Amino acid sequence: MDIVLQNILKKYGNKTVLHIDKLELKAGLVTGIIGPNGSGKSTLMKIIAGLDNAFTGSLRINGGEVNQEINKNMTMVFQKPYLINTDVYNNIAYPLKIRGKSKTEINNKLQNVIRLMKLEGIAHQNACTLSGGEMQKVALARAIVFEPRLLLLDEPTANIDPQTMQLMENAISYVNQRCNTTVIIVTHNIGQLQRMCREAVFMREGKVEKQGTMRDILSNIKGTYIDEFLELDM
Ligand SMILES: Nc1ncnc2c1ncn2[C@@H]1O[C@H](COP(=O)(O)OP(=O)(O)OP(=O)(O)O)[C@@H](O)[C@H]1O
Ligand SMILES: [Mg+2]
Repeated sequence: MDIVLQNILKKYGNKTVLHIDKLELKAGLVTGIIGPNGSGKSTLMKIIAGLDNAFTGSLRINGGEVNQEINKNMTMVFQKPYLINTDVYNNIAYPLKIRGKSKTEINNKLQNVIRLMKLEGIAHQNACTLSGGEMQKVALARAIVFEPRLLLLDEPTANIDPQTMQLMENAISYVNQRCNTTVIIVTHNIGQLQRMCREAVFMREGKVEKQGTMRDILSNIKGTYIDEFLELDM
């Protein structure tokens, strides 16, 4: 899905937390959103996801207003995942159930995603008893199981061990390639950004400071926040 934001202004009281003149995110790509804490990344993601309507400006997806059909085909994984108080299997099945899929289709899709995400050992455990990392894995599995056209990921692999991170990155790339899903991913991990994203957006103090290919972003960062961020992570 193509996303175009124009003249976006979002305030809390007198404080402007997002001020974007124009931002275009291309369909079919994995785009990274980076920037310091508090720079407005999660706020931007919630606006795109249609979860925050208290802003001025225009958000257009695939050239038009966000409608039911678009809503049905997008999902967001939150920085702090929330899961339903039932087992992992039913948590992941939920998006398929509410979309009216048949039992057979649900079972097939669940089998595939449980194998892809290596969740066999916890499939029948209550989701509320999972470790933090396990919850993040389940939240991602639940997001990709219905093959969304737009997948919004807000720091999906924060606090994840390297092996699991690889597994989650592979799962994200898999849906991007197999279903042509547009992926927007917020991350503080520059390695992840380089592995996964063709383009990136650097935000600071609510503004888009730079947008471009990973090459553009990485070649113009001397003396900026990203520079420090790189040294920390590589
Ligand atoms: N409900 C709220 N009331 C007041 N200020 C808020 C509220 N929600 C967010 N903010 C402020 O908006 C700014 C942007 O927050 P946001 O969560 O988008 O940042 P972020 O870039 O995602 O940061 P992080 O990397 O820490 O997740 C922050 O300064 C935050 O304190
Ligand atoms: Mg955030």
